[in-house]
Amino acid sequence: MKSNALIINNEKIAKDIYELTLELDSNFIPGQFVNISVGRPDLLLRRPISVSDYDNNRLKVIYRAVGEGTKYLAKAPVGSRLDTLHPLGNGYPLVKGKNVLVVGCGMGVAPMYYLAKELSKDNNLTIILAYQNKDYAYLTKAFDNFGQVIITTDDGSIGYKGNVLEYLKNNKLNFDTLYACGPMIVLKNLDLKYRDIKEGYLSFEERMACGIGACYGCVINTKNGLKRVCKDGPIFKLGEVAYD
Ligand SMILES: Cc1cc2nc3c(=O)[nH]c(=O)nc-3n(C[C@H](O)[C@H](O)[C@H](O)COP(=O)(O)OP(=O)(O)OC[C@H]3O[C@@H](n4cnc5c(N)ncnc54)[C@H](O)[C@@H]3O)c2cc1C
Ligand code: FES
Repeated sequence: MKSNALIINNEKIAKDIYELTLELDSNFIPGQFVNISVGRPDLLLRRPISVSDYDNNRLKVIYRAVGEGTKYLAKAPVGSRLDTLHPLGNGYPLVKGKNVLVVGCGMGVAPMYYLAKELSKDNNLTIILAYQNKDYAYLTKAFDNFGQVIITTDDGSIGYKGNVLEYLKNNKLNFDTLYACGPMIVLKNLDLKYRDIKEGYLSFEERMACGIGACYGCVINTKNGLKRVCKDGPIFKLGEVAYD
């Protein structure tokens, strides 16, 4: 679906990180994303951004202003409109009655909010929010009602000092199902660590063009051949992606 979505809010919430609220009539599964045209005529490709929350026709996404498109988006005024494609991607399957570990790293924390909100209705959650340092930390209190929250930073400026992989090496957590979103290196290590012993779902990123499965510009190698991250993913099961 395509919408000309009204900007309700677009505010800075941490260093280089913005929360954008759009008025949008849609249906979203956690882990899905929207593809936003930032509105500058020379930036033709849309920018894929994960759903961070959706409620009552209000979509929240959280993005880091890293390049030309997202820096331009950061200046989009409240009251203006953004051409947005949605809902895109497969989304996370939601388990019930399980001990669940939710891991969000960096910008991967953003989609975990909507996921944890939904999973907390039927499961016991442990949630790890991993950041580079306190300047880049956001939504640090937002998950408190959903389960036990553990915060890590690489430099120890808040929470545990070390990355999420170090935390998991040094602390034994009891869980049946893993959900994670973050940089490829973290996903790969979590996958290799847990693929033979746990159920789990990981959210992958690739550079995208069409975002709707038409151009094959976003393929990832899996045990079942090449898959499109935008259409067959971005969520893949533990053990599904082939890294070599
Ligand atoms: C499914 C999915 C969900 C995402 N969710 C989020 C999110 O919730 N928050 C967030 O901050 N970022 C998210 N990203 C990454 C985000 O799309 C890029 O940071 C953004 O497109 C960069 O655009 P730019 O113009 O600022 O950067 P530039 O580097 O100038 O972009 C140039 C081109 O590369 C593409 N591109 C650059 N980096 C990425 C990337 N990592 N993934 C895909 N395309 C990229 C851009 O879309 C653009 O077409 C997501 C990416 C994917 C694939
Ligand atoms: S971006 Fe075109 S198929 Fe995925």
